[in-house]
Amino acid sequence: VTSELFDQLNRATEEAKRGLADAATLDQLAELERVFSGKQGAFNEISRAVGGLDVEGKKAVGAALNAARSDLKELVAARRATLEVAERAAKLESERLDLSEIVGTPNDGHLHLVTQTRYELEDVFLGMGFTVAEGPEVEDDWHNFEALNFPPGHPARSSWDTFFVELGNEEQVLLRTHTSPVQIRVMESQKPPIYVVAPGQVYRRETPDARHLAVFNQIEGLVIDKGISFSDLAGCIDTFTQAYFGPGIHARLRPAFFPFTEPSAEFEVVCFFCKGDGCRTCSKTGWIELGGCGMVDPNVLTAVGIDPEEYSGFAFGFGIERCVQLRHDIDDMRVMLDNDIRLLTQF
Ligand code: DAH
Repeated sequence: VTSELFDQLNRATEEAKRGLADAATLDQLAELERVFSGKQGAFNEISRAVGGLDVEGKKAVGAALNAARSDLKELVAARRATLEVAERAAKLESERLDLSEIVGTPNDGHLHLVTQTRYELEDVFLGMGFTVAEGPEVEDDWHNFEALNFPPGHPARSSWDTFFVELGNEEQVLLRTHTSPVQIRVMESQKPPIYVVAPGQVYRRETPDARHLAVFNQIEGLVIDKGISFSDLAGCIDTFTQAYFGPGIHARLRPAFFPFTEPSAEFEVVCFFCKGDGCRTCSKTGWIELGGCGMVDPNVLTAVGIDPEEYSGFAFGFGIERCVQLRHDIDDMRVMLDNDIRLLTQF
């Protein structure tokens, strides 16, 4: 009886091993496991028969049975690991998205319209003798406000409401609300004469709508030299406007307030859609506001150690998305963030 049981055990083990090698999926493996460890399975049958053996027989067959079972357990685990890897790879492969298909030609991407516009604006100013400067998007209170003549608690700060970063002292580190802090960084690190533009992303606590975004781009300009006057500012703005928007699109300046310039102005361009006649887009005024500008306030020059008796200068800043919107006749600015393929492929 004992040797018969050994034969039976060997056959059951061989059969189980063959089954394991043939199992091609995790489901098949689970099924197989149920068969050879189940109540009706060959191993259980042997285990029951061991009960009828004498002590010697119980010991011998019992030990062989346990060894065979634990061997099989290891083999199952190994097989499961292999099948899992294979099934995961197959799943990944079948769910793979070939994004290049959407554009047409593989890897046929291009710059976003806002980036294209940023480069175009840089080119216009490079042509006028400016260089390009950059600054960090995470700023400190000094550069974003204080050195720009917004003292702590100044009411104008609330027009540039923003996101603070939990770093250092409370409300001292923030996402910059404008590109104007780059003016301060440039003046802190460079001696006049200074002719720079600084494009980049800015952040406002703002509810997005057709003409506003909470994350957008601006381009800042700064000129510091001897004998710079307001007419230099006006000429610079008008030259830029015609170069970027085309001949016939003029700029005008209207009095405004900014803490860091004195006097300050808003600059507006002739409405693109009606060429100044007045239409819905420009609220019948014939003009569209693009940004702010002015003569750099002597307090700002003093804050960065430039003598306002020796030097003067002007600054300006405007929204890049606003330029995009005007020039490309886009009625809702939010489409620039939507990643809608119809917009992306159009420009
Ligand atoms: N920083 C201002 C804003 O975000 C725009 C601005 C106004 C920039 C006047 C200037 C300036 O450089 O002189 O609204």
